[in-house]
Amino acid sequence: MDVISVIRTKRDRGRLSDEQIDWVVDAYTRGAVADEQMSALAMAILLNGMDRAEIARWTAAMIASGERMDFSSLSRPTADKHSTGGVGDKITLPLAPLVAACGAAVPQLSGRGLGHTGGTLDKLESIPGWRASLSTEEMLAVLDGTGAVVCAAGDGLAPADKKLYALRDVTGTVEAIPLIASSIMSKKIAEGTGSLVLDVKVGSGAFMKSLEDARELAATMVGLGTDHGVRTVALLTDMSVPLGLTAGNALEVRESVEVLAGGGPADVVDLTLALAREMLTAAGLPDADPAKALADGSAMDVWRRMIRAQGGDPDAPLPTAREQHVVTAPATGVLTALDAYAVGVAAWRLGAGRARKEDAVQAGAGIEWHARPGQSVQQGAPLLTLHTDTPEKFPYAQEALESAVTISPTTAPFEPGPIVLDRIA
Ligand code: URA
Repeated sequence: MDVISVIRTKRDRGRLSDEQIDWVVDAYTRGAVADEQMSALAMAILLNGMDRAEIARWTAAMIASGERMDFSSLSRPTADKHSTGGVGDKITLPLAPLVAACGAAVPQLSGRGLGHTGGTLDKLESIPGWRASLSTEEMLAVLDGTGAVVCAAGDGLAPADKKLYALRDVTGTVEAIPLIASSIMSKKIAEGTGSLVLDVKVGSGAFMKSLEDARELAATMVGLGTDHGVRTVALLTDMSVPLGLTAGNALEVRESVEVLAGGGPADVVDLTLALAREMLTAAGLPDADPAKALADGSAMDVWRRMIRAQGGDPDAPLPTAREQHVVTAPATGVLTALDAYAVGVAAWRLGAGRARKEDAVQAGAGIEWHARPGQSVQQGAPLLTLHTDTPEKFPYAQEALESAVTISPTTAPFEPGPIVLDRIA
């Protein structure tokens, strides 16, 4: 087998055989296929697609590239969720302790930023002392002791995905249904969770821009999970507007803590509760009441224990960026649109994400918006605050934001539409 023939097969719109898939995933993981060759193949997959059988085989090969975990020693049922990636998507932070407070064990093996979307681990690493890398024993101990753990997948879990994920981030090959579905599901199946709720984002800030593509991605992932014995449900959720009022690492931790304290933006609270209910039902705990666990402080207690168990100080001040720049509203009226993709790209350019896989992210970088679509704004009043340690990036962020905001002088204030658009089981 040689890699050039595998690349040519997909480049010429052919079907990859089981042998080609097994070989190329294994050879890439071992380093026998180079990054530039895998990026050519990833681009060919993005352009020409894969059928369901190819995706299933690719996923199985990624699972087989590493070890599988086993949560059978835990006394609680396991429930996990995974988001396909969005802007301002901090939901894992309040959700994991909330679902744990309701009686499930929540093993959240999470990722770093990908493209214009933020990463849960990058966000949590802005908490002084917090560690993303745990050994399997440490992870199980945190999970057993607190009910929830959010950490990096160990090197042994789907290592093929680890390499490919970082490569796709910097080669424009993220937005491919076969690659997203196999990336997410290989990690989740290898992790060994009993049930999984997928948050499939739709809209400008998501990798899937249309409801039709998001449905296909959701159905592909639900099929892969079910075939491997994982109870899998997908919610399709709106990502045309960024979630909450912040995008950026420490900024989003602050907002998540507000939610755990019983406050926070309504869309973040609504989505957290919707996903919590799905996770608890999938885990066999349909009578648990997540709204109560948010209101009575029990979710906050789990958060504090979970952060401490991973070396973090939940009371330490969060880092802030060295420089801020305020963008004011150019007109008076109602904000009718705030484009999630533009906000994601601007936050990324300010330093919240990375341009090359070895780059570090800035903990304090990001964007706050002071109004959400449907709300009134006054000309000259602060609309966005940009945060960065590298102020030379302000013009690039502002360029990305140029057409992000639409203000209508004639529209009356309105309630935003529902955050959950569909459910696929
Ligand atoms: N999240 C993942 O884990 N992988 C992707 O490809 C996209 C989002």
